[in-house]
Amino acid sequence: MTDSLKKIISEEEISRRVDEIAAQIQKDYAGKEIVILCVLSGSVVFLADLIRRLDLPMRLDMVSVSSYREKSVTPSRLKVLKTFSEDMRGRHVLVIDDICDTAATLEEILRQVRRMNPASVRSCVFLDKPGKRVYDVKPDYIGFKIENRFVVGYGLDFNGHFRNLPYVAEIDQVEM
Ligand code: IMP
Ligand code: MG
Repeated sequence: MTDSLKKIISEEEISRRVDEIAAQIQKDYAGKEIVILCVLSGSVVFLADLIRRLDLPMRLDMVSVSSYREKSVTPSRLKVLKTFSEDMRGRHVLVIDDICDTAATLEEILRQVRRMNPASVRSCVFLDKPGKRVYDVKPDYIGFKIENRFVVGYGLDFNGHFRNLPYVAEIDQVEM
């Protein structure tokens, strides 16, 4: 099955980049307490690596959005399976996701957070695929920009597989 995989980002490159993003976040939020809002499930590997590099007071919350949306990319068609439990009012919220593709997911989550009047809201994605963008969302922190190809590993899956790969790989035989 791994024959169809082509490594595009190595474990070492990921580790170096996560160091850099963590340093930037650390600097930007110095002296502040943050709420990290993790979008399940793809971002858990990135989240675990990132937050252990942050020396900031933080709370952690999770949201879960169903990836099933037929062919539609309308945020309202996304099914929110678990919404956040923390009160976001007056808090500095940082949304963490695995990848920003059409940006429908981030658009919807950012909209829901903003409705709760946070002190600030920013987003951080491990991967950015700007070639597929439908919504005008620019993540504030980006690990790597990638081409418009389907990728797996480091939390990202194809039909539930490959989330545990420590690197990022392109996968063939996937209809885009
Ligand atoms: P968006 O709402 O179109 O931005 O899509 C974001 C979600 O689609 C991500 O959180 C992933 O779950 C999924 N996704 C998009 N591209 C890929 C990919 O190349 N590999 C794995 N999952 C992907
Ligand atoms: Mg996702």
